[in-house]
Amino acid sequence: MSLKLHDTVVVMDFGGQYSHLIARRIRECEVYSELLPWSTGIDQIRVKKPKGIVLSGGPASVNDPSAPRCHADIFNLGIPVLGICYGLQLMVDVLGGKIERPSTQEYGRTNVHFDDRTDLFEGFGNESICWMSHADSAKDLPEGFEATAHSKYSRYAAVKNKKRLLFGVQFHPEVVHTERGMEIIRNFLFEIAKCRPTWKIAPFADEMIAEIRRTVGKERVLCAVSGGVDSTTAAALVNRAVGDQLMCIFVNHGLLRKGEPEQVKDTLKRMNLKTIYVDASERFLRGLKGISEPEEKRKIIGEEFAQVFTEAAKEHGEFEWLAQGTLYPDVIESGQTGSPASRIKTHHNVAGLPEWIKFKLVEPLRFLYKDEVRKVAASLGLPEAITARHPFPGPGLAVRILGEVTEEKLAICREASDIVEAELKAAGIYDKVWQAFAMVGDDLAVGVLGDERKLGHVVTVRIVESVDGMTADWVRLSDDLLSRISGRITNEVDNVTWVTYAVSSKPPSTIEPC
Ligand code: XMP
Repeated sequence: MSLKLHDTVVVMDFGGQYSHLIARRIRECEVYSELLPWSTGIDQIRVKKPKGIVLSGGPASVNDPSAPRCHADIFNLGIPVLGICYGLQLMVDVLGGKIERPSTQEYGRTNVHFDDRTDLFEGFGNESICWMSHADSAKDLPEGFEATAHSKYSRYAAVKNKKRLLFGVQFHPEVVHTERGMEIIRNFLFEIAKCRPTWKIAPFADEMIAEIRRTVGKERVLCAVSGGVDSTTAAALVNRAVGDQLMCIFVNHGLLRKGEPEQVKDTLKRMNLKTIYVDASERFLRGLKGISEPEEKRKIIGEEFAQVFTEAAKEHGEFEWLAQGTLYPDVIESGQTGSPASRIKTHHNVAGLPEWIKFKLVEPLRFLYKDEVRKVAASLGLPEAITARHPFPGPGLAVRILGEVTEEKLAICREASDIVEAELKAAGIYDKVWQAFAMVGDDLAVGVLGDERKLGHVVTVRIVESVDGMTADWVRLSDDLLSRISGRITNEVDNVTWVTYAVSSKPPSTIEPC
C-alpha cells in the first residue's frame, strides 16, 4: 500500500487537545494527514514531501523558555503553513514578531470579523462565530505579515504572509463550534496547498488487502477478535486477503455484556471467519477473586488472556503472524514515552500479550482513525452490529465494577448496562453517544421494598460523548429518559436501591471508573 500516492499534510503536534482532530478533519476532506511530534527534525518532515504543514495548538506560552518550538526552517521550505492558536503564536514569535499575555483573554464562541476575504476566508461574509481558547495573543507581527481578521479582543485573530504562503488563525477551525471551520480547512488544503482529494476509504481497503496478501504470502495468521469494530475489521481485511490462512480466537473472559458471546459468535460465523471460541469465564473470575485494586485487576486479566490465547492457538498448529486492530492514535501514542495514556493503550492493543510470544505483526488499521475504520467496515459489508458498536474495553465489565469483581456485582453491572443501552437505542440516541453503561461498587444505600426497608447497591449510569476518547463530556439526557432508565434499573435488577448519573467530564474524570 503506497501512501506516497497521496498528497500529505503534516500536522505538527504541540500538545493541544485538538491535534488529532485537526488530522481527522483534513482526512474528512479526503487528504491524507499525519501527526508528527513538534520536535521532529526538518529532514524527517521533508521526507514526507508534505503539500502543507499545520502547526497545532498547545497549552504552552511561547514566552516560556521551555515551550516546545519547531525548527525555524519549517517556514523556509516554500510549503504552505497554517498555524492554529499556539501554532500562530509560534510562527509570529519565531519570525520576529511579539506575543504578549493581555489582560482580557478569549474563551469560547467569539465573533470574528474577516478583513481580508481571500485565501483562507475566500467566499466568506463580514463575520462569523469562531471558537477561541487562548491566553496569549500576537502584539506585533513579523515583517511581511498582515492581519486578515480581528475580534473584539484580538487585533490579530488571523494573519498571513501571502508571499511566503504562511497563514495563522488564533481560533480553532477544527472544532464544530467554529461555524465555517471546515471551509477554512478546505481553503487551506485546496486553494492554498493545492492538495488533491485522493484519500478515499474503499480504494484504501482494496490496497490494504493487496498489501496483506503480498506480505503474508502463504503463512498463517492468528487474530484475537472481540466483536469490537477494530479487531473484527482487521480480521475481515486479513480474511479477504488470505482466506483460510487466518484463524480467529474469541476469548470469553466472563466480563462481556449481556448476550455478547452469542451475538459475537453468530456475527463471526456469518462473516465466514474461522474462529476458535474459548469460554474461560470461570478461570478469569477465579483469578480476580479478592482483587480490588484497578491496575492489579487489569494485569491479571491481561496475563490470563495471554495464557488462554496461547493455549488455544497451540492446539491449531504453527502461526507466523498476529493480526491486530491497532489504530493510528495508538501508533502515535505508543511512540511517545512515559505518558500514562500510552501505557494504557499499548497494553490494550497487544491484548495483554507478553513479549515472549513472538509473531510478526499485521496491523491493517494502523493508518486509520476510528471513524475511518467504521467506514472500512461498512465498505466491506460488515453488519451494523459491528460498525455502530460502542468502544468496549478489553478488560470488559471489570473496569466498570469498583472494588472486587463478584458474581453479584457482575450481574448488576451487566443487567443495568443492558437497560441503559436498550433505552438509548429505543430513544434513537445510542449512535449519537460515544459510550453508555452502568457501573457498580460496594456502596450500599437504604431503599424500600413494599413495607420493608432494605440495603441495596448504588448503580451509577455513565453516558458520554467524545470524538476520540481522549476527552469526553457527560451527555445531557432528557429527564424522561433518565427517569425511565432509573425506574427500569431499580425495578428489574436485583439488589439495586439507588441509581445516580455521572456528571463529571474527562478530564478530570476518566470514561471508565477503574
Ligand atoms: P478512559 O477510561 O481512560 O478510557 O477515559 C478511554 C477509552 O479507552 C477505553 N479503555 C480501554 N480499552 N482496554 C481497552 O481496550 C482498557 O484497559 C481500557 N481502559 C479504557 C475506554 O472504554 C474509553 O473508550
